Amino acid sequence: MPLTLDDVRELDRQDPLATFRNRFALPEGTIYLDGNSLGAQPRAAVAAVDGLMSQWRDSLIQGWNQGWFDAPERLGDRLAPLLGAEPGEVLVTDTITHNIFKLLGYITEGQKGTEGQGRGRPVILSEGGNFPTDGYIAQGFCRFGGFEHRVVPEGEALDAYLDERVAAVVLSHVHYRTGRLRDMAVITRQVHASGAEVVWDLAHSAGALLVDLAACDVRYAVGCTYKYLNGGPGAPAFLYVRRDCQAQAWQPLSGWLGHAAPFAFEADYAPAPGISRFRTGTHSPLAFAALEASLALWQEVDLAQLRRKSQRLIELFRESLSGCLEEHGISDITPDEAQRGSQVGLVEREHGYAIVQALIERGVIGDYREPGLMRFGFAPLYLSHEDVWQAAQHLREVLGAGEYLAPRFQQRGAVT
Ligand SMILES: Cc1ncc(COP(=O)(O)O)c(C=O)c1O
Repeated sequence: MPLTLDDVRELDRQDPLATFRNRFALPEGTIYLDGNSLGAQPRAAVAAVDGLMSQWRDSLIQGWNQGWFDAPERLGDRLAPLLGAEPGEVLVTDTITHNIFKLLGYITEGQKGTEGQGRGRPVILSEGGNFPTDGYIAQGFCRFGGFEHRVVPEGEALDAYLDERVAAVVLSHVHYRTGRLRDMAVITRQVHASGAEVVWDLAHSAGALLVDLAACDVRYAVGCTYKYLNGGPGAPAFLYVRRDCQAQAWQPLSGWLGHAAPFAFEADYAPAPGISRFRTGTHSPLAFAALEASLALWQEVDLAQLRRKSQRLIELFRESLSGCLEEHGISDITPDEAQRGSQVGLVEREHGYAIVQALIERGVIGDYREPGLMRFGFAPLYLSHEDVWQAAQHLREVLGAGEYLAPRFQQRGAVT
């Protein structure tokens, strides 16, 4: 039997994470199912950015010695417990794109010295159908570094592709389109056993589920903070390098702030010890201020509760749509519970884009990815069971009345 409005309100009353909702500023009347693209704004971020503006006004250049300079390491330490990492193993810096490039260079440079490796391993593998930047930057790295880029077709096991020529693999923990969760421990073991390294992209898992990099024996990972971690538009990304792997080589973007003594202004580069060598140039304290406010809130979150609620919300959404999707020729590509992240994927090739636009007009914000994919992200800190139930009712109505066929829903903006 489908749940009633009273049922879902009861679920909200029992929800141990319910109080987090008030810590986010969401526009009235909005049901936000796009936290997997850009997270909602923590109320505390406004005061934090204001505070930073005042500090800039009053402290001027001295601000750098009042917490701005060491923000990449300090915020990395705050992020570490959410990733199953130790202090000193995470650096908040640059973008995922830059960080993949840095890690590929670092890994392959480190392999050079080892007998039977280095240029004996000329291949970088990435995943077909993955978020494009991961493949693009691997291609750019290969082009300039003299490596060969190979692609594992989407969804295929790595077995046939991992041979003695492969230096490194770039993989997503949760796939951005399908929401499929890879078995991080098993794959990491398999890649290491082949003599290669794996760089995990945590864009869709950090802040969405329990990530335990140490337990999975992961050495290298990257991720962003603007999705589930609510760091704000364009918030800095992060990079993880396990402590015992931090002193092997240079990273290729050998900028001044990754130098062992940046203010010695020496002529030659010498990498900083530890995670700081993965810095490049000057970061933006404004962006770090917003993220720091969000990470303070995240310290209070029980990730096991977060995962349970995320899965419950997904099931509620799908149950509330039962019968309706089939009726309208929409396929649900969401994986089973053990193999999914925190999103639902519905495919309607002809009208998917217009359906999402019609929902947005009703205040239900999801997003659209070619071809035909309607993506709905479930961020448990600011979504209630009632929101999700209401979103499903809106989708039923949009489909039932053919509302999405209106011409205004067919025009595309630059960002979908
Ligand atoms: C899996 C994945 N990797 C990378 C990115 C983007 O990386 P960047 O921070 O370089 O823009 C995204 C953005 O949505 C993503 O989903």
